[in-house]
Order: sequence, then structure tokens, then C-alpha cells
Amino acid sequence: MILRHVGDPVIARAFAEVPRERFLLHPAPLWQVYSDEVVVTYRKMGVISTSSQPTLMAQYMLWACLAEDSRVLEIGSGTGYNAAVMSRVCRRGYVVGVEYNGDMVEFARSVVRDLGYDNVEYFEGDGFYGYSQKAPYTAIIATVAVTEIPIYWFEQLKDGGRIVAPINLKTIYSDPTVVLEKRGKNLVGRFVTDTRFIPARGAFEERYARRYERLKELLDLEETGVLKLKIPKTVLEFASQKLWVDSAVYFVGNEGYAKLEGFNWRVFGDVEKELKSYESDWLDHGDGDLFETVFRLMPFEGSMVGSFD
Ligand SMILES: C[S@@+](CC[C@H](N)C(=O)[O-])C[C@H]1O[C@@H](n2cnc3c(N)ncnc32)[C@H](O)[C@@H]1O
Repeated sequence: MILRHVGDPVIARAFAEVPRERFLLHPAPLWQVYSDEVVVTYRKMGVISTSSQPTLMAQYMLWACLAEDSRVLEIGSGTGYNAAVMSRVCRRGYVVGVEYNGDMVEFARSVVRDLGYDNVEYFEGDGFYGYSQKAPYTAIIATVAVTEIPIYWFEQLKDGGRIVAPINLKTIYSDPTVVLEKRGKNLVGRFVTDTRFIPARGAFEERYARRYERLKELLDLEETGVLKLKIPKTVLEFASQKLWVDSAVYFVGNEGYAKLEGFNWRVFGDVEKELKSYESDWLDHGDGDLFETVFRLMPFEGSMVGSFD
């Protein structure tokens, strides 16, 4: 069933080889396991993990430009299926899965041991930090929705390597996937499609929560003006990684904050310059909406160098 939907012959063969049902902790009917659907792989004490639609996983592999000898890091490897499939695509390469939940890691290890796959390994950890012990990687694929691209991923990626990740944007109700390529000190790329994934825990959650703590410290500041910005809030959220979204959208700056009301940003304290720098960056290098925008990510030095298309 899956084979019919996967266009690339190497990736299709990999899906045909790996028995998906072996990676489920809860049995499901085979027609469902071999359909192009999300399958629940783990559910225990409020923790859930799912295996994504095979065609989406295949598309991620294509975006990441996986080759026979790629070294791949998967963030959020769950019970191990996607990493196992990638290990068949990258037969002369190596795949590392990092998973937050140790129970799933043990399970994934035992399944690939039984199947005799020796070029895939799973480790328990917070994917925010990547997995430096086995770096560098030619591709980093996240199968969990992250609020930002950590500097660790950038450091552990080879020049020319790609990151494919769903971004948990709080300003919209979806996790659009971004494809980024490392070029020297830059990460360049664009959003490619809309997706929905489980949100990442650990440092991703903690860092987002810290923005709220900072916002609370700034709330006493006087209002200093009103701004209309041309940068869409989704783009601002990803490029700045400084938004806090609850019932309203806030930009949490270094010396002040701004609150979005309709199309206006009400500014409190000294934050106008910071906000405008994101806008002018985007006006100089970006174009159109979220999906047409080419990004330079702020944590990395250097400037945006255009699209890789
Ligand atoms: C959609 S599932 C991924 C499924 C997996 N790729 C597969 O093939 O079955 C997302 C996984 O990310 C894990 N996760 C959440 N936050 C994480 C983090 N900070 N680091 C690593 N894994 C994380 C979850 O426990 C969950 O198992």
C-alpha cells in the first residue's frame, strides 16, 4: 500500500523492507499499519508517540537529500520506525535517533537488534542539544514540532547539510515544515508545507516559558508609541524567536515589549529599533508570505544569501 504512494524507488524499497508493525507497542490491524496514515506507536501515562504518514516521512527524506552514505540525526525518534527506514536508505551511512522518552529508546533498540540493522542507534536525550557524540551529520530531521532551530543543530551539521523540521509557530494553528541548508555561517531556506506534529518538550518548552517570565518583568513599562510593521507575525515569530503568544501576541525584546492589536504593535519601553531591524531584514531579503520567505536565522552570524532553489 505504502509503496504505491512513494515516488522514489530507493525510499520505496526501504519502506517495503522495514516491518512497520514491529515498531508498535500497541497492535493495530495490518491494513491500518500499511496505509498512508499516522499510527499511534506508544501511549503510557499521558505520553504519546505516533509514526507519521509514510509519504510525509519519504518527503522529509527527499528534502533532506538523503544519500546512500548520509549521516542522519533524527530528533524525536519515538519507537524507532522512521530512523530504521532511513537506515535502509542510507545503507553505507549511519542514522542516530534521539528520543526524550527512555522507554521508547529501549524498545527501538530491541526491535532493530532483532531485525539485524547495525547502522542505526537510538539514544535517550533532549533533542534540543542534538547529539554531539556522533556529529557531524549531513542531515538533521526533526519529527517533533520545535519552537526554534537550536544553535547545537547548526554546529553539528556539515557545511552543505540540511535541516528539515516542523516549526511549532504559536501565531498559527499548524507546524509548517522548514527546509534549511547550511552555507558557511548561514542557514538558508524556506517553509515548504503545512504539517502537524507532537510539540517538543524539554529545553524547547522551557525556553519558550522563559520568554513569558521576561515579559512579566517588562509589563510595568510605559507605552511609547504604536507601530505598523510590514513583516508578517509568522515570519517575525520564526526569525526573531522572541514572540510570546497566549490570548494576545507579544514581542519580548531586550529593553521592552510590543503587543499586537489588530494590525498595530503597541510599543512599551525601548523596543522599536529591535522590531524594525527584523522588518528591514525581511524587506531586504524576504518576499511575500511565510512560504515564500527566504530566511537568515538570527542566532547565526552572517547574512542571508538567497534561496537554494
Ligand atoms: C511524532 S513522534 C516521532 C515518531 C518517530 N519519528 C517514529 O518514527 O515513530 C515525536 C516524538 O518526539 C519525542 N520528543 C518530544 N520532545 C522531544 C525532545 N525535546 N527531544 C527528543 N524527543 C522529543 C516524543 O516523545 C515523541 O516520541
